[in-house]
Amino acid sequence: MARGTGPQAAVYSGTVSRLEGSELGGRVAIVTGGGQGIGRATALELARLGADVVVAELNAESAERTAKEVRNLGRKALALPTDVTKRSDLTRMVDSVRAELGRIDVLVNNAGIYRAALPLDVTEEHWDAIMTVNARAVFFASQAVLPVMISQRRGAIVNLASMAGKIGSPNNLPYNVSKAAVVSLTKSLALAHAKEGIRVNCVCPGFVETDMWTRVARDQGAVMGISAEEFTRRRAQTVPLGRMERPEDVAAVIGFLASDRAGYMTGQALSVDGGLVMHG
Ligand SMILES: NC(=O)c1ccc[n+]([C@@H]2O[C@H](COP(=O)([O-])OP(=O)(O)OC[C@H]3O[C@@H](n4cnc5c(N)ncnc54)[C@H](O)[C@@H]3O)[C@@H](O)[C@H]2O)c1
Repeated sequence: MARGTGPQAAVYSGTVSRLEGSELGGRVAIVTGGGQGIGRATALELARLGADVVVAELNAESAERTAKEVRNLGRKALALPTDVTKRSDLTRMVDSVRAELGRIDVLVNNAGIYRAALPLDVTEEHWDAIMTVNARAVFFASQAVLPVMISQRRGAIVNLASMAGKIGSPNNLPYNVSKAAVVSLTKSLALAHAKEGIRVNCVCPGFVETDMWTRVARDQGAVMGISAEEFTRRRAQTVPLGRMERPEDVAAVIGFLASDRAGYMTGQALSVDGGLVMHG
């Protein structure tokens, strides 16, 4: 159903309504890598649901751009230039959010990078770069916010895994490993902190049209000897729901997982991929 029509319209429409903002009202959410793509769409979705939003992002300019969009929706926003791979940046992020906004209710570990290579061409540098951003930083960002959530006895962490975390693929082995690690750490963190009122889940998107996808199509196309356009055309044809994914398709499910509507869900890896993966 298109947004703006049907029973959800009151929640999601751009116009102010009675229901809008009721789900996450008074809560504070951090979105890593929120300057563009899925992270930006998520920041805006959480703001529409009522949250004040912190955009913790490597690129200061795009962080401020998203923060401005959040403010235009009537919520507070903080743009925090942050490299999620640096623990000192993560500590500073938590300190700044507590000082400026007083609490941390939601962490969306969205920042991620992609690279393609056949297994025999994967270097140590490639492996380390992917694992450091996509997996290690997800854990240490969670570790940085958890003491605050524990003291509040409430919190929701939503991690960006991928369909790549549930399947194999010949052209981006380290990326798949990193996303499988996200699925795994989601389960362990969920178990470790359930009794403290903290839920930890992850989403597994499919082929999402963002700058990352532009790189996926270019690099995988090169490995396969076809153009980026041809690669995307072939991939799109395999999606059961018949179209490429939009950042908003992912953001809607992240918003749900961050809210109390998902209050009885933890440790889950939810596929949001148009039907590409139907197991695991
Ligand atoms: N696009 C897809 O098809 C797809 C599919 C499945 C999962 N994902 C995952 O979703 C997440 C978002 O992907 P996207 O497509 O929006 O990517 P994107 O490349 O468009 O955006 C990623 C953002 O993360 C930021 N970032 C990168 N490294 C960072 C760091 N060290 N510290 C802070 N910020 C950093 C970038 O500056 C950028 O703003 C990623 O984790 C990605 O792996 C994407």
